[in-house]
Amino acid sequence: MDVAELNRIATAMVAKGKGILAADESSGTIKKRFDAINVENIEPNRRDYRELLFRTPAMKDHIGGVILFDETIRQKAKDGTPLVDIIKASGAVPGIKVDSGAKPLAGSPNETVTEGLDGLRERFVEYHKLGARFAKWRATYDPTRTSYNCNNANAHALARYAALAQENGIVPIVEPEVLMDFDNDVDTCAMVTEWVLKEVYQQLYYANVALEGTILKPNMIVSGKKCARQAGIDEVAEKTVKVLKRCVPTAVPGIAFLSGGQSDEDATAHLNAMNAKFDLPWKLTFSYGRALQAAPQKAWGGKAENTAAAQAAFAHRARMNGLAATGQWKPELEKKAA
Ligand code: 13P
Repeated sequence: MDVAELNRIATAMVAKGKGILAADESSGTIKKRFDAINVENIEPNRRDYRELLFRTPAMKDHIGGVILFDETIRQKAKDGTPLVDIIKASGAVPGIKVDSGAKPLAGSPNETVTEGLDGLRERFVEYHKLGARFAKWRATYDPTRTSYNCNNANAHALARYAALAQENGIVPIVEPEVLMDFDNDVDTCAMVTEWVLKEVYQQLYYANVALEGTILKPNMIVSGKKCARQAGIDEVAEKTVKVLKRCVPTAVPGIAFLSGGQSDEDATAHLNAMNAKFDLPWKLTFSYGRALQAAPQKAWGGKAENTAAAQAAFAHRARMNGLAATGQWKPELEKKAA
């Protein structure tokens, strides 16, 4: 394992003012997004949509890595250029989602374990040839019920995935997501996230994963969506930084948050508050799916004539989040663009 090379890749992905574009929606998830804008979920539409994102000039300034789904890493743009080459030309690192999803966990009703380890070594060899230099594996937890069985099984799978990635020259993004869809309060989110992260780092250690060649993709510490009291921006920032400082070793070069269902502006404001107010030992940035793509999807609506508008919407969110990654975002910047 070449830890220096893995560290070089990870560091480039979270370079100053840059974050990660999560464009790795499975064909099922992108269907949900396309249904919302009345676009048929067929291969040419998925290609056109992702091509427009990757050809957006602002990629160069704000996007250090792009997470792809299996179909996309093999796909060519309309003019025959591999989409991976378009991403590389923008200066971003191509990456690949490798888990096969969260499945019911035997013995723990209503909890899940993420699957996908079988044959993963061989898949990494192929993905490396296709240009991937980082990967992602997501585990999910319900904060109102997380059991030790669930915590342990998911951490163990994350660690086995991360070790296999590094063995094949690929930086693992380790993504334990405590979901925000429930009625729990913010302190329950903090308590469960701390427990989950402690277990993840324990298992990464047992699996001999070199932390210098990893990126953590966690949830922020937020109130459940159905909780009556919603924590404000400063409280989210303070509680998130507190939990991360307790759990994430400083050998980790970067932490790139998922947006998890936050509004576009909340996801930006929270990230900004953390970078503006705290002294941090790692790069703290974004790895957003929905919070980067909701606006361009709406502007595009499946119509070629809306490409420029969709690219402008994506560029705006990428720029806002790039500023948040250095603590320089201000709400007025959103209003100016509106
Ligand atoms: P969201 O930012 O939409 O949560 O997506 C990030 C992601 O990659 C989820 O696995």
